[in-house]
Amino acid sequence: MNNKEYVLNKITDSECSETPWRHLIIKDFLPKNLYEGVKSETTTYTDNKVLEETGVRGYHIFVNESVDVYPTTPYLKEYYDILLDGSIINSIKDKLLISQNPKDFYSELNVFTKGYVYDEVHPDRSDKLITMLHYLADDRDDESLGTFLYTPNRDGKELDVFKDRVKSSPYIGNCVLFFSPKDDDNYRTNHCMANVSHKTFLRKSFQSFWMKDEADWTKDKQTGRLNLSLNNKI
Ligand SMILES: [Fe+2]
Repeated sequence: MNNKEYVLNKITDSECSETPWRHLIIKDFLPKNLYEGVKSETTTYTDNKVLEETGVRGYHIFVNESVDVYPTTPYLKEYYDILLDGSIINSIKDKLLISQNPKDFYSELNVFTKGYVYDEVHPDRSDKLITMLHYLADDRDDESLGTFLYTPNRDGKELDVFKDRVKSSPYIGNCVLFFSPKDDDNYRTNHCMANVSHKTFLRKSFQSFWMKDEADWTKDKQTGRLNLSLNNKI
């Protein structure tokens, strides 16, 4: 079985949860060798002095398909080739009950140091067809640092990041969370993330989006976030 077939089987063999809204959690998403390789290729960005400070959010963009942003290192290239394969996309669409086809794909490495709290419970923007979070936790990291999920029936602005969470995806290396963002009055995919752990200083993940239309998100203003490709290299 090759790596793509492994990932395809992981998706098709998994079951969605409807609590508190439809999502898919898959552990051991990539074959071990590919996962370790992908993770090792992110250290170029995570070995950065700025990530020794508290309350920092940093990022590095790996893919924006429509504007030809794509990694060239072997493991990351294979990882994204798999995520962009038609049969993989179809299997995710099937699980999340999506009929629309994505027209673009964006992915970044996203890291928070201790003390960073995303400011608001939110459903994700409606130009995103599928959201995927892929956790790059190390062994013995704090499992509670996954993505917090909340009731779909209320406006996220009314919800408290910590008190109102009803579930959290596990922050375990090579575990993924998929969902299709919805922002309807009675069905909002409310979620949020934070790092207030006493155990884990650096929370690391890929956040990837299959998009409804082509868009260049590399030009977006990323207020309050540090571009790890540019800043304070060791
Ligand atoms: Fe989000």
